[in-house]
Amino acid sequence: MATHLSSSFVFATVFTCAFVLGALAARDLADDKAMVARHEQWMAKYGRVYNDAAEKARRLEVFKANIAFIESINAGNNKFWLEANQFADLTDDEFRATRTGYKLPASKGQRTTAFRYANVSLDELPDSVDWRAKGAVTPIKDQGECGCCWELVDCDVNGMDQGCNGGEMDDAFQFIVDNGGLTTESNYPYTAADGTCNSGKASNDAASIKGYEDVPANDESSLRKAVANQPVSVAVDGGDSHFRFYKGGVLSGACGTELDHGIAAVGYAVAADGTKYWLMKNSWGTSWGEGALEEKDASAPVGKPPSAPVSQPVLIFRC
Ligand SMILES: *[C@@H]1O[C@H](CO)[C@@H](O)[C@H](O)[C@H]1NC(C)=O
Repeated sequence: MATHLSSSFVFATVFTCAFVLGALAARDLADDKAMVARHEQWMAKYGRVYNDAAEKARRLEVFKANIAFIESINAGNNKFWLEANQFADLTDDEFRATRTGYKLPASKGQRTTAFRYANVSLDELPDSVDWRAKGAVTPIKDQGECGCCWELVDCDVNGMDQGCNGGEMDDAFQFIVDNGGLTTESNYPYTAADGTCNSGKASNDAASIKGYEDVPANDESSLRKAVANQPVSVAVDGGDSHFRFYKGGVLSGACGTELDHGIAAVGYAVAADGTKYWLMKNSWGTSWGEGALEEKDASAPVGKPPSAPVSQPVLIFRC
């Protein structure tokens, strides 16, 4: 009798497990179907077309992993939120390779140039600054699949700067100084591809700068002094997934330290809850971020080292 009961119990247990496993498999299948549909909707929204079914299947897996990341962040208690934007089917490596482009020079951080705002008192600075409102910020650009966040593509190719393969802002400013200025976007339009330098067009100078300076690294008070006076180009960890999928709010928390992307600090302010943040201009089109202006928590370490061109108006960093 005891034996009989025991085997019934075993049977019941096995049956229950099989039933649960069956139910799980069915749910996975339903989740998969929902994810396939979601991927297809996303493809339609961003006009994505794949070469074949194998590539589509591979992209679906990447998409799923990115969705899982985005949803885990959005379910948390954060001051910002993410969305499955146009980069949702790319791996980290693919994204860093094609959408950023800042090359950190080995010598960076060792420069000891004077900082013109060193003796400015923080008390004298305005509580908030927004260079957009002062007409000092050009429209948002989309760098596309070209690592030219640092800006100049065809002509500044003799040093560290290598077109779509990346570059560095100080070198770009130096190129502008040596070139006697910079021409307009309409005269020499951006094409998101490397090209041969048209020196005739490049020498048509619409704006010029006298020089540039580095803002002391790892020093947000100095950055605040600089941004109160002009927009400043900064380097950030743009390949970080929080940054990549940022949609709105104040992006805060642990900041990545792999500096690979050049953007522009175009202001700062204080949120209703007292959080200080930077206004940052990016170059990933207008659907990224809050109208493409990132707000960054001023209490978190910002990308560094920042540098700023000296003459006003400063419209150099548009990428
Ligand atoms: C800041 O003040 C110090 C001490 O008075 C002075 O030596 C330095 O030149 C000043 N820096 C600037 C940028 O004015």
